[in-house]
Amino acid sequence: TYVITFPCIGVKDASCVDVCPVDCIHPAPAEPGFAEAEQLYINPDECIDCGACEPACPVTAIFEESAVPNEWKQFIQINADFYRSS
Ligand code: SF4
Ligand code: F3S
Repeated sequence: TYVITFPCIGVKDASCVDVCPVDCIHPAPAEPGFAEAEQLYINPDECIDCGACEPACPVTAIFEESAVPNEWKQFIQINADFYRSS
């Protein structure tokens, strides 16, 4: 699955939403720990790994799960948790 990470917070360009063929990228309120920021999240159960969103993001916030930089690995769980709790 693909994951949206830290650079999206406060940017939310949403170009990724426009290119996603299965409409699995959605906005959400700020999570605890990111009180002053917002980002969008990819639903890991719906993402088909097409890769279209990755180059569409102007701030390089999107990575394939295995390629997420170490300092942002927690976003794999943050994206998944959003859909489990909503
Ligand atoms: Fe959507 Fe494809 Fe990105 Fe998955 S990889 S979120 S299906 S655009
Ligand atoms: Fe965020 Fe980049 Fe999409 S800034 S909303 S991940 S295009």
